[in-house]
Amino acid sequence: MFDVNAQIQLKYVEKIRTYLSDYERKTGKRLTACVVTYGCQMNVKDSEKLSGILEDAGFNIIEDEDADLVIYNTCTVRENANKKLYGHLGLMKHKKEENKDKMIALCGCMMQEKGVIEVLEKDYKFVDIIFGTHNLYKFAELLWQRFSGKKRVLEILDKSDEIVEDLPSKRNDFFRCGVNIMYGCNNFCTFCIVPYVRGREKSRDPKDIIRECEALAKDGVVEVMLLGQNVNSYGKTLEDKMTFAELLSEIEKVEGIERIRFMTSHPKDLSDDLIKVMASSKKICKQLHLPLQSGSSALLKKMNRHYDKDRYLLLVDKLKKAIPDICLTTDIIVGFPGETEEDFLETLDVVKKCEYDSAYTFIYSKRTGTPAATFEDQVPKDVVKDRFDRLLKLVNEISSKKTKKLEGKTVKVLVDEVNKDMEGFMSGRLDNNMVVHFKGDKDLLGKFVNVKLNEAKGFYYIGELA
Ligand code: SAH
Ligand code: SF4
Ligand code: F3S
Repeated sequence: MFDVNAQIQLKYVEKIRTYLSDYERKTGKRLTACVVTYGCQMNVKDSEKLSGILEDAGFNIIEDEDADLVIYNTCTVRENANKKLYGHLGLMKHKKEENKDKMIALCGCMMQEKGVIEVLEKDYKFVDIIFGTHNLYKFAELLWQRFSGKKRVLEILDKSDEIVEDLPSKRNDFFRCGVNIMYGCNNFCTFCIVPYVRGREKSRDPKDIIRECEALAKDGVVEVMLLGQNVNSYGKTLEDKMTFAELLSEIEKVEGIERIRFMTSHPKDLSDDLIKVMASSKKICKQLHLPLQSGSSALLKKMNRHYDKDRYLLLVDKLKKAIPDICLTTDIIVGFPGETEEDFLETLDVVKKCEYDSAYTFIYSKRTGTPAATFEDQVPKDVVKDRFDRLLKLVNEISSKKTKKLEGKTVKVLVDEVNKDMEGFMSGRLDNNMVVHFKGDKDLLGKFVNVKLNEAKGFYYIGELA
């Protein structure tokens, strides 16, 4: 382990460990910690890093907000995410009065948003530790400051210049894992706050990525999910340039990794090479999340997406020709400023033509500081609601039709969950990321099995072990 920043942090981990064991000896109590994650896969991965630090420092990690230390890893992509957090914090305040060891920490994207810290300083004084996305690697140090008697620890940096490698991480699943390949975003889509809270795009060194994948494979991981806001522009910031397609070919060579997924792909940067690599690969799942946002070329321009309707359709056509059984999913925003009925009909048209296997649909949320927040012609709420319902209906009709196609077939799935709602059932994922529930033993978790898809239920299947 050579990363100097990581070594400094590991010293703090040691200090906390000594502190906690002294505390346990004196009081008989081992402190518990809980990490609550909002938002996307980036945050899920960041939370695994926080849990890794906490576990190495000697905390007992539990999934219960009554824990002595609770960390909220926040998201701010839409405004309701912020509202939810403030509401929740209100509830947590009196929990602190009940437990003298109780500490609350906040981190993640919302902490990087302008104005949020001011609100927290004024109305949420009981929060113990606040940090952002650029100094997550310093969590042990900040926690140590709090343990050393500082009443409140607050540190937000407005950018990060380096990538810190080799910090501990605690995986949620023993058989699969997210792997960061890049951080930040340079695209500045006019509706989106992510570039402001996650900073500029930085690619991780391919050697570090491969090293992590190899270590994961050795440790029993069979599926990796490569993470970035725009994985198709991977490598552009590296001294020795490398494309995403080239990186995928390298990861493909890692023995033990059987499935490779990635997200998110920006249509503007999706190359022919990537399509080729996907089509010929034995490990890359035949699944692509390709956010459309809108089907209207005029709106796409206002969104600063750098493609138009025709180019998007052409790309999907190419993908389907090269990979006929590809599972295509997308993100769509309804009610972007200035969206007319005609614009919306263009979106419906693209949805019909692309036949998405599933689509995440969002109502436009105005994010202060982004260009679109100042655009005129914000669309009235009732109009947005009506369009949203119409879009959802179409999306659902198409995905039911698509899932039906595999009904009766036997497929290979990776068993990834003990089903919480159906007694005696396990859940697994097909190569295309669809979910199937089937009767099975808990020992199957993390294993590949063949399952017959008896019944398509819209977004998922009910099946049986074949
Ligand atoms: N980097 C990814 C998206 C990350 S955010 C990409 O470019 O595809 C995930 C999704 O949230 C986006 O695709 C978009 O559909 C949605 N989103 C982002 N900002 C939004 C906003 N202000 N209002 C509504 N939805 C938004
Ligand atoms: Fe946001 Fe656009 Fe960057 Fe995605 S590519 S994170 S939507 S700015
Ligand atoms: Fe939310 Fe941050 Fe992800 S704003 S969507 S958690 S990058």
